[in-house]
Amino acid sequence: MNAARPDPQLDAHGRLRHLLTVEGLPRELLIEILDRAESYAAAPGARREKLPLLHGKTVVNLFFEPSTRTRTTFELAAKRLSADVINLHVNASSTSKGETLLDTLKTLEAMGVDLFVVRHEASGAAHFFAAHAAPGVAILNAGDGCHAHPTQALLDMYTIRRHLGPRRDFSQLKAAIVGDILHSRVARSDIHALRTLGAREIRVVAPRPLMPAGIEALGVRVFHQLDAGLDGVEVVILLRLQKERMVGAFLPSTAEFHRDFGLTRERLERLAPGALIMHPGPINRGVEIEGDIAYGDPRSRILEQVEHGVAVRMAVMAMILGEPSRLDEDSQPAATPAARPRRAGRAAGAPAAPRRRRR
Ligand code: CP
Repeated sequence: MNAARPDPQLDAHGRLRHLLTVEGLPRELLIEILDRAESYAAAPGARREKLPLLHGKTVVNLFFEPSTRTRTTFELAAKRLSADVINLHVNASSTSKGETLLDTLKTLEAMGVDLFVVRHEASGAAHFFAAHAAPGVAILNAGDGCHAHPTQALLDMYTIRRHLGPRRDFSQLKAAIVGDILHSRVARSDIHALRTLGAREIRVVAPRPLMPAGIEALGVRVFHQLDAGLDGVEVVILLRLQKERMVGAFLPSTAEFHRDFGLTRERLERLAPGALIMHPGPINRGVEIEGDIAYGDPRSRILEQVEHGVAVRMAVMAMILGEPSRLDEDSQPAATPAARPRRAGRAAGAPAAPRRRRR
């Protein structure tokens, strides 16, 4: 991040005030989110019990693009933290009558909303919302165009970290991201997250028309042959062809794409032993991955990724709206354990610490 232009998602103390992208976020902050997510996932009754942390807060899901996983897990996460949740049906809202994004934001803000979860087809939409949000109102990017999908990257890192062994060390990890890299916000966010967490090698594998020019600048190795790209990797993240973002024809056919870039039984042999097969979803069976691998192979972590979405999104919302950050703790003078502010993991079901207004 440019020193002259501070990261708009962090406050003056480096705490998270919005989540717009993982690019530029410090490693310690990513680790803190993953640790908090772990505490929510591990809390007794985490799948069912409500925690009181966001009682009295209002979260609006504002999705201008379709979603199954992200919208639903954000809703579940907010409800498990006791927030009031509104799902605005954009097609049935006044945006369909010509209301601008800005006017929609201001209208909803006037109702006392604390946090907007925004998905939009335009890259930069979440930054736009954050730039215009009232002080104290937070924006969480649920996917903007081809740009970023930060909570997907965080849940992907969470899923990988669970399989890294006791040291949870990314430094020996070789990962490949395969498919429509050009149109993928998940690819960009995963690359930034893997780099920040110190992955040894990040490969991107795609046919030339679906590979962004200059992507090597992100610190990745480029492959145009799937077999070579898969050789010895411990993680493979598959991506679908994002036809809704394609302008014109990029490939002769999906059958040809499957032949050259689809994950098949034979190609599984190339992966390292115990490799993880991942996909952000939705999958297109028989295109980027065979259906029986996606939902039948023991190496597939696709449904685990979905499950982890709830805990990771709880962690992010808690850090933005609810609980003090480790940064707060680290800046406190030493205190007795009883007097120290609570970390997310220690007492996930306990009453919330009062939220500090910090914006
Ligand atoms: N991974 C993901 O963003 O899926 P949805 O489009 O279903 O939210």
